[in-house]
Amino acid sequence: MLEDMSSLLLRLMHRSTLGGLCLALAATGSVAAPQLQPYRVEGQAIEQSLGPPGDAARGRALLIARDPANCILCHAAPTELVGAGARFSGNLAPPLDGAGARWTAGQLRLRIVDSRRLNPDSLMPSYYRTDGLVEVGAAWRGQPIMSAQQIEDLIAYLVTLR
Ligand code: HEC
Repeated sequence: MLEDMSSLLLRLMHRSTLGGLCLALAATGSVAAPQLQPYRVEGQAIEQSLGPPGDAARGRALLIARDPANCILCHAAPTELVGAGARFSGNLAPPLDGAGARWTAGQLRLRIVDSRRLNPDSLMPSYYRTDGLVEVGAAWRGQPIMSAQQIEDLIAYLVTLR
């Protein structure tokens, strides 16, 4: 189990630094290279949605999915999801319980889009970024780890965690 977690972590770090060499979705060929939606950072937040409103049920499923989100590799899963698929979760990062009480949707959006803007040394991948990456394979160039819709879905779920 421990080995499993650390190889996953390595894969994830690899992915965020090498820019998606092993992006599973891309490997299955199910995603065409999306363009990044332009966004504006105001203070510690991105207030405007990256696209159509998110769906909390999809976000809930995504949060505990290994690919592409993998949030619970590092974060303790919300309590309500333990037993609903999130049997194992990490403790490298703050638990996600209460995230919707601690943060606004806009703050959550910036955190997921580009947590390194808040903390350059953050372990947390910048999920919606395509620049500043090195050695990106041609097939993955220009693709963020998650789509705008997936990020909005996650936010719609996270704001319900109070
Ligand atoms: C590789 C580890 C890692 C992964 C994967 C990860 N995070 Fe994080 N996250 C962190 C760390 C570490 C912090 C603490 C702040 C920092 O260092 O940037 C954090 C902070 C946060 C915070 C603020 C926590 C708080 O309440 O103080 C939220 C919300 C968050 N992450 C959501 C997510 C979501 C949603 C995902 C999946 C899309 C995710 N994280 C994936 C490591 C990770």
